[in-house]
Amino acid sequence: MGCRTLCFGFFCVLFAYCVYTPVPENIEEPWKVRFIDALVKMTSFVGTLFENIGLMKYEEVFSVIAAAHYTKPISDENITVIDTNFSDIPVRLYLPKRKSERQRPAVIYIHGGIFVFGSCKMSTSDDLNRWTANKLGAVVVGIDYRLAPQYRFPTALEDCVFASKFFLQDKVLAEYGVDPSRICVMGDSSGGTLAAAVVQLLQNDPEFKDRIKAQALIYPGLQLIDTFLPSYQDYKHGPVLTREVIIKLACLYLTEDETLPQALLKNEHMPEESRHLFKFVNWSDLLPEKYKKNHVYTEPIFGKLNASYVALMDHRLFPLLANDSQLQSLPRTYILTCEHDIIRDDGLIYVTRLRNVGVQVTHDHMEKGIHGAISFTRAPVFLHSGLKMIDKYISWLEENL
Ligand SMILES: *[C@@H]1O[C@H](CO)[C@@H](O)[C@H](O)[C@H]1NC(C)=O
Ligand SMILES: *[C@@H]1O[C@H](CO)[C@@H](O)[C@H](O)[C@H]1NC(C)=O
Ligand SMILES: *[C@@H]1O[C@H](CO)[C@@H](O)[C@H](O)[C@H]1NC(C)=O
Ligand SMILES: *[C@@H]1O[C@H](CO)[C@@H](O)[C@H](O)[C@H]1NC(C)=O
Ligand SMILES: *[C@@H]1O[C@H](CO)[C@@H](O)[C@H](O)[C@H]1NC(C)=O
Repeated sequence: MGCRTLCFGFFCVLFAYCVYTPVPENIEEPWKVRFIDALVKMTSFVGTLFENIGLMKYEEVFSVIAAAHYTKPISDENITVIDTNFSDIPVRLYLPKRKSERQRPAVIYIHGGIFVFGSCKMSTSDDLNRWTANKLGAVVVGIDYRLAPQYRFPTALEDCVFASKFFLQDKVLAEYGVDPSRICVMGDSSGGTLAAAVVQLLQNDPEFKDRIKAQALIYPGLQLIDTFLPSYQDYKHGPVLTREVIIKLACLYLTEDETLPQALLKNEHMPEESRHLFKFVNWSDLLPEKYKKNHVYTEPIFGKLNASYVALMDHRLFPLLANDSQLQSLPRTYILTCEHDIIRDDGLIYVTRLRNVGVQVTHDHMEKGIHGAISFTRAPVFLHSGLKMIDKYISWLEENL
């Protein structure tokens, strides 16, 4: 029997095993979720395997799979799509063809991918941005920021900030017929991390204050200073995003030193002098009762990690670390969270903190939803729940932008 047949057989067995991993009850489209979950677990497994035999780095396996889904800038009957650069940063623009009496609203879109993979050119981002542009008659700007591990923090954020500032210039907005008072920044997953940070920075920069009308964060990741929030425990094995995958990949945004992810897994990564920051993510105070279930709050262990990463205390990396006076000035906000999502509590805590300081927040919680659902809008894994989320987000934009 050939090696190829043997490998194929091996992967089939593994895949079947992954597919049979149970998923929570009360989940929408359970078989599709099992399939997606199995794909992610297989990717992670193959990544570990390839890294160990020296074929490819763990994270490269994720990038290669994502890159297979990149699209070319193809215009259609409604939208002109072009790739260009804003201040040397590659962006993809979606410009509605339909004539409009008024100036157009605009959405700045920041994609997810745990800082190491993905692009606004991926087919699912392309679909979302086309729909947004078409439905709202909006100009959409997808930012192709640089990725880790090649480019570390704060490169991704700086790319997003520079591209946004470039777009916000009066002459650029005028060129695309955009109404300067109707601009939203949107991101999903780690794109939500970046979107939240971009909006905090612009809003607290005198030159750009009140230039952003709204922000939309779809199942955002907003902190990794406490990795034992209830959702981080309840959903540590997924579905879709697991504790291992998220910590392993997210750490690459800071370092390739493996002691950092090991410390994060044990929740022992924060330095002694970070104690005062925990009030910003203290789920004991900030998480609504219904999500606490039977978890008991325990303080993380401080000062165990020898290496010191100042970035871990930086609100540009973890937007939940911004203090109340920095949050107070934020624009109206849409936050979507999913029940079956390891980073669910980040979004829930941001909702509480923003409301506590008087920011106008619309919060949709998907009781049966999973992390990443809006990225599964194409065959073979087409999630109706993902489309439902996109509808909710776009309806909010229609009313609020
Ligand atoms: C163009 O817009 C119309 C009206 O919204 C829609 O029915 C049609 O499907 C759109 N075409 C494409 C290619 O998206
Ligand atoms: C954008 O910039 C990159 C390098 O920064 C360059 O390779 C590319 O040709 C530029 N693209 C356009 C459309 O100007
Ligand atoms: C978190 O909140 C609980 C309850 O208010 C409190 O007892 C605990 O000291 C807080 N922990 C930190 C690190 O702020
Ligand atoms: C941290 O440093 C101390 C003293 O330099 C050493 O004994 C200890 O093993 C180190 N811990 C780790 C986890 O590297
Ligand atoms: C909030 O953080 C900003 C920036 O770090 C700082 O200038 C300000 O004094 C802080 N405000 C409070 C109330 O701690």
